[in-house]
Parts: sequence; C-alpha cells; structure tokens
Amino acid sequence: MAKNKENYSIEALFSQDLIRQRVREIALQITKDYEDKNTLVIAVLKGSFVFCADLIRDLNFIFAFDFISLSSYSGAAAGEKVKVISNLKENPEGRDVIIIEDIADTGHTLEFLHKEIAAKNPKSIRTCVLLDKKCARVKNVPIDYIGFEIGNYFVIGYGLDYNGFFRGLPYIGILQIK
Ligand code: IMP
Ligand code: MG
Repeated sequence: MAKNKENYSIEALFSQDLIRQRVREIALQITKDYEDKNTLVIAVLKGSFVFCADLIRDLNFIFAFDFISLSSYSGAAAGEKVKVISNLKENPEGRDVIIIEDIADTGHTLEFLHKEIAAKNPKSIRTCVLLDKKCARVKNVPIDYIGFEIGNYFVIGYGLDYNGFFRGLPYIGILQIK
C-alpha cells in the first residue's frame, strides 16, 4: 500500500521547524531537572529513534544512554500485550532513568516498560513522550515531559511508522488511507 501514492494521503500536523523548536524546549527543561543526577536515558525502539537523536543532542549534562526494543504480541489488540524484543545493556539500578518514547496511545507500552524498569531498582523514573494521544489512554501512566498533545489520529513521520513505512518523513503528518 505505502508504495502506491494513490492509496493514501498525508496531512501535515507538525512541521520540521515546529518539532525542532519544541524538542529544544523539552531538552532545556530536562537539563534543568537532571544536571546533577546519575542519569540513564532509555529510548524505546523503533519509533523514538529520530526524536531521541535530536533530543539527546540538546541535553546539556552528562548521561548514559541505552535502547530497549519493545513490541506487541501479534494477534493481540494493539499494545495490549507488550514484550521485550531486545533488552537493555545498561543497568538502571540506583540511577535516575528517563524513558523516551515516540507516542503514548493506550498507555499499555509505557505501563509495561515502567514496571520492567521499576523492577530493576532505579533511583527514579521519568517519562518523556513527543506525542500524547491522551484521549485514547486506557492505562493511567505518569508522563513527565510531553511534546504535543494530539487527537485520536493515526500519525506518521519523524520515526513513527505505518506498517514499517514513513519513518523517514521529516515532519509529522496524519495518515489517511483511501
Ligand atoms: P500504546 O501501548 O497503545 O500506548 O501504544 C504505543 C505504541 O503504539 C507507540 O510506541 C507506537 O509505536 C504505536 N502507535 C500508537 N499510536 C500511533 C500512531 O498514531 N502512529 C504510529 N504509531 C503509533
Ligand atoms: Mg513505539
């Protein structure tokens, strides 16, 4: 589908410039909060790789970085059952952890990850998402830094995909399948 442009349209939602500006603002806020801590930044693959690449270059303090790769079990409704595809190499124990995720939708993924990391005895955990689809939330997960709140659209670009496509789009758009 994604290779046939007749079948879909993309409506721009957040431009490259707007995203850049907002990412800088979030980074300033995080820098203020984390200057003196023993920080481990954990980015959730695959969706957050573009966001975190921009964000971490604006963080003005010393921190360690790691990825975790998560996915939903196939067959389950989106996000309902999450599993670890590739685990952390760094140990969160005793550290101030910041989770970076592309989007909070139902909240299942963040709830799962929060529990996984909490079990490893970090000193603290905070969560940063670029997009918050608040109206779709079914799990009450704490989110500390939010780029933009959005409605219940399916969005793509800037790391976010539809069936593996569109991650390289430099802006965020709403995908409409015809
Ligand atoms: P949750 O577990 O329902 O909160 O879903 C979170 C995951 O679903 C995100 O990490 C994304 O990978 C994916 N997701 C949710 N909404 C969208 C969307 O609008 N576009 C692309 N991916 C999405
Ligand atoms: Mg994701």
